[in-house]
Amino acid sequence: MANTRSRVQRVLRGQILLARLLWRCSPGLTVLGAVAVVAQAVAAAGLMVASGRLVGGLVHHHLDTRWLVLTLTCLVLQPICTTVGDVVGVIEQGRATPLLLERVSTLASRPHGVEHLEDSEVRQAIDGAIEEINQQYFTGVASTWNVLNYRLWGVAALVVLASWSWWVAALVLASTVAVNVTWSAYSQQIFEDIFRDRRRRRARWYRSLLIEQDNAKEVRLFGLTSFGLERFSATWQRAMTDLWRGRRAKQGPIVLANIAILAAYAVAIAALAQGAWTGAIGTATLLASAQALTQMEGLGMLGDMQTMVIRQQTLLLDLEDLAERLPEPPATSTPTRPTGTASAVAFRDVRFTYPGRTEPTFAGLTLEIEPGSSVAVVGANGAGKSTLIKLLCGLHRPDSGRVLVDGGDPGSDDRLRRRVAVIFQEFVRYHLTLRENVGMAMLGDHREEDVAAVVPRALHDATGDPVLARVGGWDRVLSGEYAGGTDLSGGQWQRVALARALAAIDAGAGVLVLDEPTAALDVRAEAQLFDNFLTVTRGLTTILVSHRLSSVRHADRIVVLDGGRIVEDGTHDELVASGDRYARMFALQAERFALAGGEVS
Ligand SMILES: Nc1ncnc2c1ncn2[C@@H]1O[C@H](COP(=O)(O)OP(=O)(O)O)[C@@H](O)[C@H]1O
Ligand SMILES: [Mg+2]
Repeated sequence: MANTRSRVQRVLRGQILLARLLWRCSPGLTVLGAVAVVAQAVAAAGLMVASGRLVGGLVHHHLDTRWLVLTLTCLVLQPICTTVGDVVGVIEQGRATPLLLERVSTLASRPHGVEHLEDSEVRQAIDGAIEEINQQYFTGVASTWNVLNYRLWGVAALVVLASWSWWVAALVLASTVAVNVTWSAYSQQIFEDIFRDRRRRRARWYRSLLIEQDNAKEVRLFGLTSFGLERFSATWQRAMTDLWRGRRAKQGPIVLANIAILAAYAVAIAALAQGAWTGAIGTATLLASAQALTQMEGLGMLGDMQTMVIRQQTLLLDLEDLAERLPEPPATSTPTRPTGTASAVAFRDVRFTYPGRTEPTFAGLTLEIEPGSSVAVVGANGAGKSTLIKLLCGLHRPDSGRVLVDGGDPGSDDRLRRRVAVIFQEFVRYHLTLRENVGMAMLGDHREEDVAAVVPRALHDATGDPVLARVGGWDRVLSGEYAGGTDLSGGQWQRVALARALAAIDAGAGVLVLDEPTAALDVRAEAQLFDNFLTVTRGLTTILVSHRLSSVRHADRIVVLDGGRIVEDGTHDELVASGDRYARMFALQAERFALAGGEVS
């Protein structure tokens, strides 16, 4: 019972959300559409009554011109009003799709961190919604108007029928509503199942393995094409088979309701026939009621268009659920203007455990970084270097302890988060122009001239002049996937990424972080790049992350991370002099570095 109540509440809630969506598409058109469907229903009722009276008169050789005019007027008016409703539906459908996509994107980017994007339930909801909205035959908004049109037509028929016999009207209404309710509940359940079924999402991943450019190279080299195809079909098939099985199990109530509606119509027709036979009802009532009886189907199950409306409501409800589970965005503050000041950074007794893991990555880490100093964080793969940086940008929140930028929490203060500019190892290769790729941090709230003034210096400082020469202009898109665009090599992309970090200073960043964006370079090139970076960022707070000790020895201070703990901390010379692990590892790596043709200074 409680289940039914919550289901009914959900259906009502879905209808409210749908009405709001229509309103947001266009208040004016929504009013026009509403007027049109109501007028259509009035015309429908008028037609049933007037045509009945007209024919009733004709039977007695009497032509009543008033009923003739009314019949003709309603005959013309009804399709016109229906068409207006249809047109409103088509226009609003066109507006709804971008509105909905925007809503999903807004929700997905609402939390400050990235944890929700790693949460499989949230991912499921986001991906499911986007797939649904993007389906070409998904016409939930347009169908809403069609359904409304039929529903009001059905109400008009109900009124006409009730004016002859209230109990026949009640009987037909009850059975029609029974069919409708059982069918809607079933349909809504199915679409919720589809949304939440993980295997279809899994199947989509297999599909993307085959068609996405990023994957294509490796998939072909490994000969994974037929493997991918097989997995895709098998996963999809299994998901769909289960869904269909679930559907069959829920069909019982629908069959019963359909038997009931057959019985109700049999009784109604018998009553009408009997009334006509005994002369209890005249021709006019007979005709009007017979028409009304067939048109009551407008209140029943409306097939595809009703399915569409249910899908639309399910989608809106799922988006609402998603909005509830994602935290509100942090209060936005006015963007910082370039301050030119270096930030202070502090980690105080930080404990952090990744969601879904039991072992903490940090169990009490403390690190203070003076404004204006350069710090290198070194350590083997998996030592926790990137996690440290993600905490610093507020992408993850510590379980306990504090992460501070300029004395505040970057996880809750947008302004402070913008003080941190990071280039990660897997930095993004934006399908944007060279200028936008470099001036990324300034795009949100700077004038075009400001961006244009900053980016050449940034690219130059990042030793990227040859990249500009190679690309041939600031306005060329850095992707071969677009006409006139061009792709870059890994090393060239790294220079663009470095330039992006440098340009962020002008957008107000107070601490620059490079988290191994140079890992693909050879040791010597990385060392050169880091040295160059330290030179151009002198006086700013910089954090260089690397697993290669020889690249970062010119940093003011070196911090060695191991298993989530700081095991050594000092200048290069101090650490070498101490003769501990850093000294041994450095000697080992320097040897190889020398072998590779580099010189150790
Ligand atoms: N998103 C994640 N979810 C769960 N564990 C993670 C995640 N990212 C990293 N880890 C784990 O945290 C530890 C530190 O990783 P990371 O900070 O990336 O190391 P580093 O950057 O030093 O190579 C590793 O054991 C790694 O497997
Ligand atoms: Mg890392």
